[in-house]
Amino acid sequence: MESDIVRDLRSKLDISAEALRKAGEQALAGRFALEVMHEIRNPLEAVGYLIHLAHEEDDPLTVREHLRQANEQMATVHQIAAQTLSLARILPAPMETDLVEVAEAAIRIHHRRITAQKIHLVRDFSEETSAEIYTGEILQVISNLLANALDAVPDGGTISFRLRKRGAHVQLLVADNGQGMGPEQVARLFEPFFTTKENRGTGLGLALSKKIVERHAGTISARSSALPRRNGTTFRISLPVRRPADAVTSAD
Ligand SMILES: Nc1ncnc2c1ncn2[C@@H]1O[C@H](COP(=O)(O)OP(=O)(O)OP(=O)(O)O)[C@@H](O)[C@H]1O
Ligand SMILES: [Mg+2]
Repeated sequence: MESDIVRDLRSKLDISAEALRKAGEQALAGRFALEVMHEIRNPLEAVGYLIHLAHEEDDPLTVREHLRQANEQMATVHQIAAQTLSLARILPAPMETDLVEVAEAAIRIHHRRITAQKIHLVRDFSEETSAEIYTGEILQVISNLLANALDAVPDGGTISFRLRKRGAHVQLLVADNGQGMGPEQVARLFEPFFTTKENRGTGLGLALSKKIVERHAGTISARSSALPRRNGTTFRISLPVRRPADAVTSAD
């Protein structure tokens, strides 16, 4: 028989755990929005500068050239905003979606870092890879795996994406040749608040990614090696092509 105190404590713990889970999901969504904002900020600043130059300029041809460049930058902003936000929209039901599109959207979100870190990005998207998913959620998962890979690789490192069909599932592999991890670290990867990034990381990225994947009745796993010359990490997500009818809904 549980005492009243234990029962009371247990229910308080449940409430705290639920509050933490909600806070974690908001943190992931907030960080995701921040990543998108970062990508949009550079071209927007360029537009502001080009318009300023056009204002100061007397030569009509040069003005026209500044405006043409501003227009080009606006097209980039428009592309990132339209494609990312339409994908991230919270949909009432899972939708048949091409995972190549979702992976490409995640790559666009991190375009600035990929370029700055001179990453060699490999795409192997040759197989048919549609699945019934909550697109915005899976975009967050892939974006998160890519962010971790970018944190792990040195400048000039390689990150590869591979999509393939395995029976009734699609698999996405995200591999990097970063510093890798030992077995103790791999065992703790999906624990909430497990991080080695001190002040920079919350340690919620993978815990929430796992939740999202499991809501899709899928699995996520990692393999890693920290051995010299064999160092690197591969995450594998497997999602059912058709979402089982009894899978929990996104709102759960
Ligand atoms: N590709 C990777 N290579 C090496 N270590 C990794 C990789 N992905 C994750 N890790 C390790 O797993 C830890 C947990 O990752 P997770 O994404 O959950 O949190 P985080 O990246 O530390 O913080 P957050 O994602 O909340 O900003 C990381 O701190 C890092 O030590
Ligand atoms: Mg992370």
